[in-house]
Amino acid sequence: MNSTPMRTALITGATRGIGREVARQLKAAGFAVFITGRDLQLVESLQSELGCPGLAMDLAEAEAAIQLFAAVRQALGHVDVLVNNAGFNKAKQPLAMVTTEDLDASYAVNVRAPILLAREALKDMAAHGSGHIVNVISSVAHAKMENYSVYSTMKYALHGFTGCLIKEARQTGVKVTGVYPGGVDTTFRPNARPDYMRPESAARMIVQCITAPDDVVVHELTFRPIVETNF
Ligand SMILES: NC(=O)c1ccc[n+]([C@@H]2O[C@H](COP(=O)([O-])OP(=O)(O)OC[C@H]3O[C@@H](n4cnc5c(N)ncnc54)[C@H](OP(=O)(O)O)[C@@H]3O)[C@@H](O)[C@H]2O)c1
Repeated sequence: MNSTPMRTALITGATRGIGREVARQLKAAGFAVFITGRDLQLVESLQSELGCPGLAMDLAEAEAAIQLFAAVRQALGHVDVLVNNAGFNKAKQPLAMVTTEDLDASYAVNVRAPILLAREALKDMAAHGSGHIVNVISSVAHAKMENYSVYSTMKYALHGFTGCLIKEARQTGVKVTGVYPGGVDTTFRPNARPDYMRPESAARMIVQCITAPDDVVVHELTFRPIVETNF
């Protein structure tokens, strides 16, 4: 039987791409969702589409994750599912072009924010003895690619963190999933990639992990467009 006792979900990076589709699909599956992204207009537009609370904020700010989680607690009461999806890659560029600012900016959003949000979520979820933290990583964390050093390093870090969290959270009854998508046709890249997966499809894979039976935890989910060969 496929029971879905988890009723509330916080989705970061919900203004576009994969996160927006996860928010739509979780809402359709009966979840009360809280959405966040940086772009105020897009947050407001999705809020009115889904009839849900939301907050526009920049997760690069040091205090943002803590402020966000406090706002979500207030709006939803309790978070059953955290989808750490917000992330970015500034550009595909050789190491010679990488700056200190690039490293710090990527770390803040791709590593620090999801770790702090997971920390806040785990405190609450552990007290309830249930919950689910989903970290959207990338198949780059299973590969080595030239001109992707900063983004890959951060996703490898999130992969390492997720492995530790799987073990730590397990003792409290909290599920943890690391998601490793290959190419998805979103605004992540400057150019469209119609040969890549649709964000709706990637979101469906993620939502399947979230709505898996209670006695199942998906620890790692790797999926790719069939055209991809970088593994
Ligand atoms: N697309 C792919 O091929 C692919 C493959 C593997 C993994 N991923 C990962 O999947 C996740 C979603 O990517 P996507 O393809 O859906 O990308 P996207 O279309 O560019 O969407 C990224 C989302 O993250 C949010 N975000 C970015 N920087 C932020 C910041 N500083 N503060 C708050 N929110 C921020 C964006 O918000 P605003 O637009 O409102 O700023 C947007 O909602 C990312 O973690 C990405 O690394 C993507």
